[in-house]
Amino acid sequence: MRRRDFVTAAGAAGLALWTRGLFEGAAAASHSPIPFGAAVSDGPLQTDAAYQKALIEHCQLLVGEGGMKWADLRPSPSQYVYDQPDRLIAFAEANGMKMRGHTLAWYAAMPDWALQLKGETETSRELMTHIETVVGRYKGRIPSWDVVNEALSDDGPRVGLRDSVWAANLGEYYIDLAFHTARAADPAAQLVINDYGLEAATAKSSARRRAMLDLLRRLRDRDVPVQALGFQAHLPGNEEIDKDEVSRFVSDVKDMGLDVLVTELDVIDDQLPADIQERDAIAAKRVGALLGAILDVTRPTAVVTWGITDRYTWVPIWYKRADGQANRPLPLDEDYREKPMMRTIKQAVAGA
Ligand code: XIL
Repeated sequence: MRRRDFVTAAGAAGLALWTRGLFEGAAAASHSPIPFGAAVSDGPLQTDAAYQKALIEHCQLLVGEGGMKWADLRPSPSQYVYDQPDRLIAFAEANGMKMRGHTLAWYAAMPDWALQLKGETETSRELMTHIETVVGRYKGRIPSWDVVNEALSDDGPRVGLRDSVWAANLGEYYIDLAFHTARAADPAAQLVINDYGLEAATAKSSARRRAMLDLLRRLRDRDVPVQALGFQAHLPGNEEIDKDEVSRFVSDVKDMGLDVLVTELDVIDDQLPADIQERDAIAAKRVGALLGAILDVTRPTAVVTWGITDRYTWVPIWYKRADGQANRPLPLDEDYREKPMMRTIKQAVAGA
């Protein structure tokens, strides 16, 4: 029997209420118990009316694909450039949608000056000031933050702490510091540790699941205020999802008192067949397998795709297809038509 079958009606209702509370809003309340959202690209948000319309039609929450990363916010030590996030929040609030924040501590998208940070004192001061300033500015308007992004290394069979200016100067303690500072800056926000490569039936993915559990246990033992694990879920289309292992992993995470959510869902389709129907069917199947593996154990607090339409996606930056065909990683095609993936997501978030 699946664990989900043990969930009592009262428990499920309580969870749904809590989830609704986190991303409270007309859209979330009237549509579905699990809020669905997408990452937004700043350029098209300003120029493409069809893009805006699709976001309004489908999403209950939004996150900036960029704009909140250090490289965007902090071109120099004294500057905070809020243009992109302010634009996105205004759009979200005008349309009854909630926001997620991405991201406060990451190895990538760093401005050159911040990569030069040296020593414990200077590095911790900059990290803390940044988080206090940014989370503090949006306090009460961004109910969920990716505090630490991609903490796990990806350079061999042994998964450890990923290299970054933060890890180099502060060791694993940078994670503690980031979460404690975010917690103080907005006591009500959901604080998330976010990572990728946790879903597949591969030795590598299995090692990453183990390393993430070990890290979460250490954080819990040190009383670090992490509330949830984010599955980025950039799913490699050619790899099966390990449904049993993902369910077991989610169950272990829940047993530590943490929630889970899906933060950057898309399907990397560079290795998938050229035939579009076949390709879209495999992509939907991967998404269904992941969401099913999570739902068998618990309700994710949100499901967020990394973009809404194949027209605007980061995937070809790294995963162009050899046959020259465009990538199709997202729930809507480039003309904003719903693909099988969208139907799979809608069923899952509706609690079907
Ligand atoms: C990507 C954006 O989508 C691109 O537009 C940008 O050029 C690079 O970053 N994991 C993450 C995201 O956490 O921030 C990344 O976003 C995709 C991988």
